[in-house]
Amino acid sequence: MAIEDIPGPRGPGPSTEATISKKKKSKKGHEGAVAVVDARPAAKVRDYESHVLICTGGDCKKRGAKDVRKTLKGELRASGLLGEVRTDAVGCLGLCKHGPNAVVYDGAETKGTWYLGLREKDVPEVVEEHLANGTPVRRLAAERRPRKAAKK
Ligand code: FES
Repeated sequence: MAIEDIPGPRGPGPSTEATISKKKKSKKGHEGAVAVVDARPAAKVRDYESHVLICTGGDCKKRGAKDVRKTLKGELRASGLLGEVRTDAVGCLGLCKHGPNAVVYDGAETKGTWYLGLREKDVPEVVEEHLANGTPVRRLAAERRPRKAAKK
C-alpha cells in the first residue's frame, strides 16, 4: 500500500505530490520556501499504560488542582509508575464548577474515566487502584449521562 492510499483522519487526503505542488504554487516567487509533506511523523510516541489529563485551569486551580497534581506526581514516583503513566496539565475540561478534575485514559473505560472534584487525599487510592491495578475507583469516578438526542 502506498502512503497516498492510507486514509488520514479526515479520509483519503491528497497525494504527497499534490500537497507539495499546491504549497509551491502558493509560495510562488518566494525562494527557499519549504514544502509541507503529508506523511506519517518520524517521531514515535512512548507506549504509556495510562494517560492522565489533569486540569490546572483557573477554577480548578482555585480549588487546589496544583496540589492534587503535585500529589499525583509524588504518588506515581513513589509507586515506580512515572515511566508507565503520562500526566499532562490541561487548561480546562469543561466542568469547571466541579474541579479539580482529571481524566484517565488507559483502556479500563474506552471513553476515559473522569474524576471530578478530586482531592489530594483521594489521589493515593486512584494511583494504587486505578493506575497501578487497572481498576477505576468507582466511588470517585463520575457517572455518564446519556447524550441529548440530535436535532433533525
Ligand atoms: S478550569 Fe478545570 S474544568 Fe474548567
